Amino acid sequence: TGAITIDPGYKNTGSCKSEITFLDGEEGILRYRGYAIEDLAEKADFLEVSYLLIFGELPTAAQLEKFENDIRKYTLVHEEMKNIIDGFPKTAHPMGVLSSLTSALTAFNPKSVNVKNEKELYEAVCKTMGKFLVIATWTYRKRMGFPMNYYDNTKGYVENFMRLMFELPTGPYKIDKRVIDALDKLFILHADHEQNCSTSTVRIVGSSHAGLFASISAGVSALWGPLHGGANQAVLEMLQEIHDNGGDVAKFVLKAKDKDDPFRLMGFGHRVYKNFDPRATIIKKAADDVLGALGVDDPLLDIAKQLEKVALEDEYFKARNLYPNVDFYSGIIYRAMGIPVEMFTVLFAIGRLPGWIAQWKEMRLNGEPIGRPRQVYTGYTARAFKEVNER
Ligand code: CMC
Repeated sequence: TGAITIDPGYKNTGSCKSEITFLDGEEGILRYRGYAIEDLAEKADFLEVSYLLIFGELPTAAQLEKFENDIRKYTLVHEEMKNIIDGFPKTAHPMGVLSSLTSALTAFNPKSVNVKNEKELYEAVCKTMGKFLVIATWTYRKRMGFPMNYYDNTKGYVENFMRLMFELPTGPYKIDKRVIDALDKLFILHADHEQNCSTSTVRIVGSSHAGLFASISAGVSALWGPLHGGANQAVLEMLQEIHDNGGDVAKFVLKAKDKDDPFRLMGFGHRVYKNFDPRATIIKKAADDVLGALGVDDPLLDIAKQLEKVALEDEYFKARNLYPNVDFYSGIIYRAMGIPVEMFTVLFAIGRLPGWIAQWKEMRLNGEPIGRPRQVYTGYTARAFKEVNER
């Protein structure tokens, strides 16, 4: 079989060919299917971008309307799913619950487990887009002890997210268009990022021909970790800690540089970007705009800006090309929208969903082989077996 090259973390290993997302980490360029992220964030909406990622082209008005309608058809979640949710303790982290519920969807949608033709694939895509959004919000309703809400077919996808989260039996949830627009933009910025940890997970699970829900459930688990999507929650907790400790950002920068201290500056650094993360640039501006428009004065935004300034001027961060990433400012916007911190990574998952679907679909349609890395064995050589009473 020849010599095996070890590449921990796959830093220099390409796992596939892909037509979905182009990323140039040196130049800070990100494009979905050839379209600049800046243009998409500014001019398109989340479902348009989802369609682009999954099907390869921007939809016509008629295609977009059909896609939205087809997603709506599948937003009803089996009532038994509520019994499953009820079994979780209220304190359960929403990402753990979301991963379990996504996996549970396989039990209620057996056809989507083993898609046989284009039509079933399309149905599985729309089902995933519809049901995942609803159950994602149910993780929060459960935590709060609120009754579950249902999708409103007269409203848009992102607006439904806010309604599903926050509408109470006491009266309708007041929609703020600025909030919906900002959230739409955030979802677009999270929608795909080529072969990141969760997407690679989705592809590798799917490569065994596991179904879409099962593969996405694994992606949710991968996203949860603080080195990946969990960083958005970790950033806010870090900013809060800095604030509670008197706002001394320099002290935390020192801590992050100390190799004996496991602390890292959350929301800083990236495997591929060795220059500014273009998503962070857009989000930083959006944070200023949204907080300004909502009249929110968050001291954590000032701390984030100071922290960024001190880190960017520091030799340690300069030498390692560590810049703020997508997670650095997103939490501040979520917080201004009234989203609780434990839900931040769930929002990342909703945004990343079309990317996971597109990558799973591409992998299956390309007929890629099962993902099965090799290893270099470093354990014992052959040993003689000893009976239990001889050990
Ligand atoms: N704070 C302090 N030092 C850092 C940081 C940081 N945030 N990030 C990297 N470094 C140092 C690291 O210690 C290493 O130093 P040295 O060369 O002296 O050993 C060097 O920079 C290279 O880091 P690495 O760990 O080899 O890089 P990686 O590509 O394996 O890790 C990363 C990338 C994103 C996991 C890492 O930068 C990190 O842990 N960042 C904080 C968590 C975070 O913000 N994650 C979100 C990433 S973007 C969105 C997403 O993927 O979900």
